[in-house]
Amino acid sequence: MMNFRDMNPDMNQTAETMRIQIAQLCKTFTLHLQGGLRLPILSNVDLSVSAKECVVIHAPSGAGKSTLLRCMYANYRATSGSIKVLHAGHWVDLVQASAQEIIAVRHQSLGFVTQFLRVIPRVHTLDLVAEPLMTRGMSAQDARLRAEAMLVRLRLPMRLWLLPPATFSGGEQQRVNIARSMICDYPILLLDEPTASLDESNRDTVLEMMNEARERGAALVGIFHDPAVRRAMATRVFELS
Ligand SMILES: Nc1ncnc2c1ncn2[C@@H]1O[C@H](COP(=O)(O)OP(=O)(O)O)[C@@H](O)[C@H]1O
Ligand SMILES: [Mg+2]
Repeated sequence: MMNFRDMNPDMNQTAETMRIQIAQLCKTFTLHLQGGLRLPILSNVDLSVSAKECVVIHAPSGAGKSTLLRCMYANYRATSGSIKVLHAGHWVDLVQASAQEIIAVRHQSLGFVTQFLRVIPRVHTLDLVAEPLMTRGMSAQDARLRAEAMLVRLRLPMRLWLLPPATFSGGEQQRVNIARSMICDYPILLLDEPTASLDESNRDTVLEMMNEARERGAALVGIFHDPAVRRAMATRVFELS
């Protein structure tokens, strides 16, 4: 019997539905404090992802899964190769893009759920979650209503909404992070262990949210430590060697 791993990854991909095209991607870290020691982490990675796919990156710890996602969000600049993402009907190569282009792509086309929340001092939870919508031009009132709905769905107690999340527990911060990163309907969503510190009910809610994103046509690329989550989410497994 054929499983997802054996399927030709290009089988369902057509030019119209393609969202990400990575070709010959290499990332080498140069450790300047170690006499310029070079650490080659990614070499010649090729990966294309279409709308309605959830590609799960699978590899042992330390193999470079998070590095790949960070390159795809242009947090790390790739050493060579290309990472093209579909943005406003055009392909933008994030390896060559200017800082301004990267910001525009992130606002409109590319979401990233990281494992940890980057807390902004003094900004309370509700505004932190609503901010990406306001950046896109939604009124503060409408954005806060949407933020409230996200926080209710992720079971974050109301007493926490007007506090900055700096002192929240790991799982509470993670849910604020998910609410903020998934509040916009990004056509491409990158997820690095989004369910790692969640209890079962919240994990199931996040699974539902990821599936809804996929069903409305988003392309998802995820790293999931939990084999059950991997099985539930993957439409394709990408083995990073
Ligand atoms: N900024 C960095 N500078 C130097 N080495 C790094 C950096 N980021 C990651 N690495 C190294 O790259 C390797 C892959 O890391 P990572 O992508 O986090 O692995 P994974 O997510 O698969 O567990 C590790 O050996 C890590 O130490
Ligand atoms: Mg990682």
